[in-house]
Amino acid sequence: MQEPQTEGNVMCPTVDSADHTATVAPSDRSVRLRAAWTAAWDESDVDVLNDLLSPSYVRLRGPQGVEQSREGFKESIRAVREAFPELRTEIEDLVEDGDRLAVRWRSTGRHTGPFLGVPPTGRPIEVSGATFARFEGDSIVEERVTFDSRQLLEALGIITTAQGTAVEPELVRGVHRKFITGVTVVTTTDDEGAPRGLAVNAFASISLDPPMVLVCVQRSSSTHPVLHRSSHLGINILAAGQLDVAKVFAGKGQDKFDRIEWSPGTHGTPLIDGSSAQLEVEIGERIEAGSHTVFTGRVVSASHAERAPLVYSGGGFFDISTTAPLPW
Ligand SMILES: Cc1cc2nc3c(=O)[nH]c(=O)nc-3n(C[C@H](O)[C@H](O)[C@H](O)COP(=O)(O)O)c2cc1C
Repeated sequence: MQEPQTEGNVMCPTVDSADHTATVAPSDRSVRLRAAWTAAWDESDVDVLNDLLSPSYVRLRGPQGVEQSREGFKESIRAVREAFPELRTEIEDLVEDGDRLAVRWRSTGRHTGPFLGVPPTGRPIEVSGATFARFEGDSIVEERVTFDSRQLLEALGIITTAQGTAVEPELVRGVHRKFITGVTVVTTTDDEGAPRGLAVNAFASISLDPPMVLVCVQRSSSTHPVLHRSSHLGINILAAGQLDVAKVFAGKGQDKFDRIEWSPGTHGTPLIDGSSAQLEVEIGERIEAGSHTVFTGRVVSASHAERAPLVYSGGGFFDISTTAPLPW
């Protein structure tokens, strides 16, 4: 989906969520989408999609945006249903923003029919992803869908799991411990405007012009669904003196922001006092990858201070303000 049109952190006040208390009744679009999804994905009644999807509907799949027409989409649902007749799709979150609707979903089923030329394996599958729909009037004209297809193909043994099993996660963890990072706190606000956040070291610059960054957030984190619904996120690069802040945000609890000093940035994201640097980011892509979602976005505000950053290395935290720079 393209970036939401609204300012502020929450995409829009129309909320229809399993995770959050609804503050406003779901719109007709949300209700129709939910009903059509259940009929099509859970009951194989794909023709109901004719009422929801415009004849010119285009579905863009994956980061490459592979195109699929309405009929092609219906055909692929039929094929999936034949392969996984018990398929159940749960809409975990649904957020509306003007003409746009974002859906976070999770499907579970069992492989009891041929799929992509693979005979039934009887294996259980679980796939989660996100769909971003754009309405024109009553109909969806475009949908962008992102999910980790590798997860599904590996579960069915369609692609080799050799890459997954040949390198033990613990070994990979050992490699990551050799990579020095800073520590950020990624923040947003929930539907009630309350600040939320977690410690994240999976932060990287993508591009300077335009200024773009990414963060990777585990789907199991309690901040994840809130971030997924948000149009903006804040990134606070912690200073060496903020170990206590890192501990707060590496932990759990709804009261994290009661234990620190912060204030909202110009785009509404919570910014933590005393940070080494701060960014506000308008979220662009939300890419499902393994256990995490990669949030990319465009930097909309930035600041930095004369404070040494907190350093994370080998599972420990360091203050590098006293280290000597190497000659270069
Ligand atoms: C130094 C450090 C770096 C971390 N980096 C990440 C990260 O990049 N992505 C992530 O999802 N969690 C990361 N975590 C873990 C989360 O901060 C942690 O699971 C937190 O409790 C999640 O909080 P929540 O469930 O309230 O959202 C990191 C933790 C630490 C201590």
